[in-house]
Amino acid sequence: MRFLVPAVTILLTLGIASLACGENQDNEIKRNATAAEMVSPATPAETPLVLAAHHGDAKGQFACIDGTASAGEASYNIYCTTCHGPGGNGEGPAAAALTPKPAKHNDGAYMNGLTNEHIIKVVAEGGAAVGKSPLMAPWGGVLNEAQIKDVLAYVRSLAVPAYTCP
Ligand code: HEC
Repeated sequence: MRFLVPAVTILLTLGIASLACGENQDNEIKRNATAAEMVSPATPAETPLVLAAHHGDAKGQFACIDGTASAGEASYNIYCTTCHGPGGNGEGPAAAALTPKPAKHNDGAYMNGLTNEHIIKVVAEGGAAVGKSPLMAPWGGVLNEAQIKDVLAYVRSLAVPAYTCP
């Protein structure tokens, strides 16, 4: 019994380590494949930077936003697309039944006029907190501050024409 515990611990550690390695390897292969498609020839040193610029993956893609767009996208697809639609096109399955309509987050002409502070507030506290429809629910109980900033980074990445920091 005294030897069983360490043995189990070692087995678990090995298992987790090999899982982690497998995942890293997959990611590495994907990263290299995507980079190869986009920039050819790519030196390994350039690859992460190029990808970050293209995918908005780096923390602070926009210098004024402390969030990661790719992490925000995951939350967005769970909590926001029902109304705001995939890619923020305003055509989520629930949108037809709503008046006013959910904002089109890909509409840069509208969205770029909203400040980061305003968007963070409307997401955390809901539409009513900024004089908008209460149909835009508060998400502060579901998403923490860091997650809301990630969502903000993703929402900013959707805008056409593109959002630029003031
Ligand atoms: C139940 C439907 C619904 C869901 C889910 C929803 N929204 Fe909204 N949202 C709305 C509606 C409706 C409006 C328009 C409010 C208005 O114009 O008065 C809106 C407006 C907005 C606006 C624009 C506010 C402004 O000042 O014009 C932002 C930004 C926003 N939502 C972000 C989000 C984010 C981020 C999520 C996910 C975390 C989300 N919403 C989830 C319905 C929803």
